[in-house]
Order: sequence, then structure tokens, then C-alpha cells
Amino acid sequence: MLRIAHISDLHVLDLVGTQWHEFLNKRVTGAMNLIGIRRNAHPVSIAEQLADRLAAGDIDHVILTGDLTNLALDSEFKRVREVVERIGPPSFVTVIPGNHDMYTRGALRHHRFEKWFSPYLVDDADTHHSALTKGRLHYPFMRAPAPHVRIYGLSSAIPTPPLLAFGHVGRHQLDRLRQLVAEEPPEVTVRLCLVHHNLHHRVGAAEYVASLVDRKAFTRVMHEIHATAVLHGHTHHPHQGHLPSRKSKAKEPTVADEKLQIRAELEEMGADIPVLGCGSSTWSKKGRDLARFNVLEIDDTGLHGISSLRWSAERQVFELEHEDLLDKALHGKNRINL
Ligand SMILES: [Fe+2]
Repeated sequence: MLRIAHISDLHVLDLVGTQWHEFLNKRVTGAMNLIGIRRNAHPVSIAEQLADRLAAGDIDHVILTGDLTNLALDSEFKRVREVVERIGPPSFVTVIPGNHDMYTRGALRHHRFEKWFSPYLVDDADTHHSALTKGRLHYPFMRAPAPHVRIYGLSSAIPTPPLLAFGHVGRHQLDRLRQLVAEEPPEVTVRLCLVHHNLHHRVGAAEYVASLVDRKAFTRVMHEIHATAVLHGHTHHPHQGHLPSRKSKAKEPTVADEKLQIRAELEEMGADIPVLGCGSSTWSKKGRDLARFNVLEIDDTGLHGISSLRWSAERQVFELEHEDLLDKALHGKNRINL
């Protein structure tokens, strides 16, 4: 059994060495936010405890679904890179960017995220060169923590105007994902797709200012490639839901020929796809313990269970919270209808 940990939204803050002129852009609003409600919301000490827990030996691979930083500053990337190195070597950790890691147009243009994390964005067959030189065009990348498992890392992270945090994947990435799946060897049975932005509808303004704008196209491709699960970040609260297979919309066959045709169509439509956000893995709000991560259990026949662990400030450890999240994702009330 392969145990894959899913962590997200570390939001490591470090402004050491940052010059005042680096705030003369969108970061002005972000910095004010940090001084206000977000101050102390993501203690680096929890990120460090998390790293030590993940390195403890019972986890086979770690997935980090973006928002490592707050303002995409080099000082933040440097600090969070130290945390990621503490988790383990690049072969042990897979990382995708979040909207905060592409906070400004400069961060996107200079491939800042890729410069700091290129070793965590490439597979053996790939090269660091691709991530460093292509930036956003490097995605999706593929990693194979076991012969039967593929991890596909997409980037929904784009710079947005102040106070907005929407994301976009785009046709180029979806076409390339189809191509990568078509090239898989026959032993692959598990496909985990990573994207920072959530797929489900949120309440209030977040739905309009912080959603994945092409989530319908993204969802269609998840069905097409028979994704085993979609893992996301962005929402600091955890979420479990599923993309319903379109089987329920199929008509009842009336004659034998139609039966055969409908059976083929059903196979094409595939199964329900679990979609999971683990929540922020460093979040602490007014002394409440909200930091979590998930652990996926996978063997060569598929995904068999997902549990969550939650930080306890009192005992200074991550403790088991739920063991039935896969069941909750597939059979709970959260059908993601787009
Ligand atoms: Fe985010």
C-alpha cells in the first residue's frame, strides 16, 4: 500500500531583506491584508512541525497543492523552500503553484516559482531546464511515485488584479494532459490530478472573485482521462465532493443493439471522481487548531481510503481526525454539478 500525503496552502511569510519598492504594485493590498487579518494565521512553526511529521517514515510521497507563499517574494520562496527540503528530497515531494505564488505579473514573467521549485516539478524523464525556461508552459508535468501511479500537476495560478484570486488552466494544458495520458504504459491504474483552485461552488463573493474560470472544460477532461481523484488547495477549509459520472443521464435501452451501444457509452462516461481539498496545513485562527493534511492509501488496483490529520497545539502533534473521507467524497451530499 502506497501512502501519499496531501498538504496545501502553507502561506509561509518572510519579509527579511525585502525592499520597500517591491510593494509598489499589487502587493500593497496584500501587505495590508497580512498586517491585518492574516497576521499569525499561518505560523511557520506549524509548517516546520508538519515537515518533521511527513519525514517521519510512514509516508511514501507528499503532494503540495500551492500557495506556498503570500506575496510571491524571493524571501518567502527561500523560507518555504527550506520547509519543503525539510520534508524530503525532490523525489519525495511534488509541488504545484497557487495564485499567491504568481501574485504579480513579474512573478509569472520571471518564472519565480519555477526557479525556486523546479526539482519538484520534473520527472526522471524530464529536465529542470523545461520548468526553468518554459514557466507556465511547463504544465502539466507528470511524476510517477510508483509504476502504477501517475501524478499530473496542472497550474491554475495566474496573476489577477487586486482583491481577485480567480484561476485558469487553459486549453494548452488540457490538450497536453490528454497526450500524457495517451502515452501511459498499460500498468498505470491510478491518475491523481492536481490543481490549486477548487472545483465546487462556494458561497458569497469567493464564488465570483476566486473560482477556476474554466472548471467546466477541466471537469470534462477529468472524465475523459478517467482521473482517479482530483486534489486541490485554495479553500483553507477542507472539502470532500465528487464529479458525478453522467451515467445517471443515460436512457434505458429498449433493443439489444441499443443496449450494446449504451454500454459502450457508459464505459466512456466512467465513474464518479472524488475531489478533495485538504484545507490549509498551517492555519491557526484565534488559537483554534485548523491545520490539516490528508493521507491517501493506494495499491495497484486503485485508491482505497483517505484519512485526515489535524494539528493539536496542546499536544504539538498532528492527530488522526477522520478515516472515511473517500466514502464521504463519493457518497456525501457534495455532488459537484457545473
Ligand atoms: Fe489560493
